[in-house]
Amino acid sequence: MRVFVTGASGFIGQAVVKELMGAGHQVTGLARSDNAAQKLIKLGAKAHAGSLHEPDTLSAGAAAADGVIHLAFIHGPGDIPLGRRLGLILGGSPLNMVGRFGAAITAADRRAIDALAGALTGSGRPLVTVFGTMGMAEGHTATEDEEPDPRSPGWMRSQTEAAVKAWAERGVRATMVRLAPSVHGDDDHGLIPKFIAAARKHKSSGYIGDGENRWSAVHRLDAAVLLRLALEEGQPGARFHGVADEGVPFHQIAKVIGRRLNLPAVSITPREAARRLSWLAPFAAYDNPASSQQTQEQLGWHPSHPGLLADLDREVYFRA
Ligand SMILES: NC(=O)c1ccc[n+]([C@@H]2O[C@H](COP(=O)([O-])OP(=O)(O)OC[C@H]3O[C@@H](n4cnc5c(N)ncnc54)[C@H](OP(=O)(O)O)[C@@H]3O)[C@@H](O)[C@H]2O)c1
Repeated sequence: MRVFVTGASGFIGQAVVKELMGAGHQVTGLARSDNAAQKLIKLGAKAHAGSLHEPDTLSAGAAAADGVIHLAFIHGPGDIPLGRRLGLILGGSPLNMVGRFGAAITAADRRAIDALAGALTGSGRPLVTVFGTMGMAEGHTATEDEEPDPRSPGWMRSQTEAAVKAWAERGVRATMVRLAPSVHGDDDHGLIPKFIAAARKHKSSGYIGDGENRWSAVHRLDAAVLLRLALEEGQPGARFHGVADEGVPFHQIAKVIGRRLNLPAVSITPREAARRLSWLAPFAAYDNPASSQQTQEQLGWHPSHPGLLADLDREVYFRA
């Protein structure tokens, strides 16, 4: 299959490119810079110049492919062009600044999915996108057949899931992979490294309250296999869970970080967590176990790489 991958130059994307090529697919990745294009060419993929802010470049990439995996996401102001960013800072809508950026990011993701899916309409060619298990209700083991919960810290991103559902209802073979909040492995620059940085800065590794709230996790190489299987076999509207560890108590994560940094692991209050972690605090407090049983049964996906605690307990996570 000729596969178009957005976010192909990223942490998960590069693993997906290697996984797809290893399975005999040809890959073209979206590249918004020469640097990203060089990464793709080094991996043996082709680069397609474009950006999430230029939907025509996405349609063109999808139209030339037999299938699409959409991983690119605007993770912060740095991914937004300067002029637009200034507009969001200066205002012009009743939302506060965080709300304005959130709305702009979800709107851009919606436009990107519409451009990609629109190019695939009526062709039976697949589109795989990602969401997070952090968009599910807390306090129980989330399953693939549940809907996102408006009270969850990942709710903002549920627009992605709604877009996929809408396109699947229009006959596009669009599927959704809900990834665990920690997709871990070498070169991880997701949420876990932010906890490590906060522990260094505050001279202790914090968990909130008793730290019994659980996080699911998946190794990025296992996530890459799942994304390939979803592309090859997913049916319209299918939802899969990229989860290997169902629920690791957060205090265990904090304790590995503390031991590795030679710092105490300490219980902190939600107020102290907000001071240390800012927007990340609600995620660190969230009890978010999730199952991938249905995914494993449907796709024959069996994660085989190390779990979060073993993977985290390595020098590579703690280089200064
Ligand atoms: N990592 C995790 O733990 C985790 C957990 C749950 C869900 N996810 C989701 O999985 C997906 C991939 O995550 P990741 O960790 O691989 O992210 P990442 O390493 O930050 O990579 C993001 C990718 O998106 C591209 N990108 C960002 N803004 C863009 C724009 N305006 N136009 C075009 N491309 C743009 C980046 O391109 P450049 O190379 O040019 O920067 C990069 O290829 C994301 O949707 C993320 O939210 C990740």
